[in-house]
Amino acid sequence: MLKIGVFDSGLGGLTVVKALSEVIQNAQIFYVADTKHAPYGEKTPKQILQYSLNITQYLLDTYQIDILIIACNTATSAAIKTLRERYPSLIIIGTEPGIKPAMEHTVTGKIGILATPATLRGDKYQSLANVLASQKDILLFEQACPGLVEQIEKGEISTEETKTLLEQWVLPMKENNVDTIVLGCTHYPLVGETISKIMLCDVKLIDTGAAIARRVLDLALQRGHVNQGTCGISVESTGDIYKEIISTIFEEELEVNYIKIANS
Ligand code: DGL
Repeated sequence: MLKIGVFDSGLGGLTVVKALSEVIQNAQIFYVADTKHAPYGEKTPKQILQYSLNITQYLLDTYQIDILIIACNTATSAAIKTLRERYPSLIIIGTEPGIKPAMEHTVTGKIGILATPATLRGDKYQSLANVLASQKDILLFEQACPGLVEQIEKGEISTEETKTLLEQWVLPMKENNVDTIVLGCTHYPLVGETISKIMLCDVKLIDTGAAIARRVLDLALQRGHVNQGTCGISVESTGDIYKEIISTIFEEELEVNYIKIANS
């Protein structure tokens, strides 16, 4: 059975776990929500790297995982390079804003990117955006969304406050003819419906959960994985977590175990 470790600062990475659970069988997913340190997007790269190293070590020591998925754009940007150097035999898959699929989809050539402040500041995003946007006649409208992850973590998916926050970022995109918006944070698919409503449904939202799931399955199959059976999900959290959102994502209740991670 394939043992897959997945982590994020909180609920967001569960959007990736949901996509994974739809394609992976004969597997157990061990999910860590690091809500004690959420939001990552407003921390320093050094802090995010330390949290990522601690969680990876925990997942390896506790579950002997075969694959690690960093279900977080912010932690991927700050930590994937060091994690790959530190754990060369572990398969590590990160999450990056889906600019490439957005470029394939856009007709107006105007693409909105919503992400955390740390992701947009990171070298990884900067070089990806520079290379891709220079290849075609593309204009990127980048928008950091401070405070949005906190709203989602509180379960405020469709409240007036969250809608007002989103409007200030998304309405200018609408006025500029943006037809495709990249959800560059794994939390943001949870407010996808609200974004679509603000854009009057005239937009394609790009998230990367399904692409990550396909990539994991390909890599596992190459290593002899037999994709038949069931997929178990265990959820652990380093702090308080809003369980109703978990039930909404999976359409069933999942038990959450509260854990303490060494050095964190
Ligand atoms: N869900 C995460 C991401 O994809 C982290 C958000 C946060 O904690 O700020 O970036």
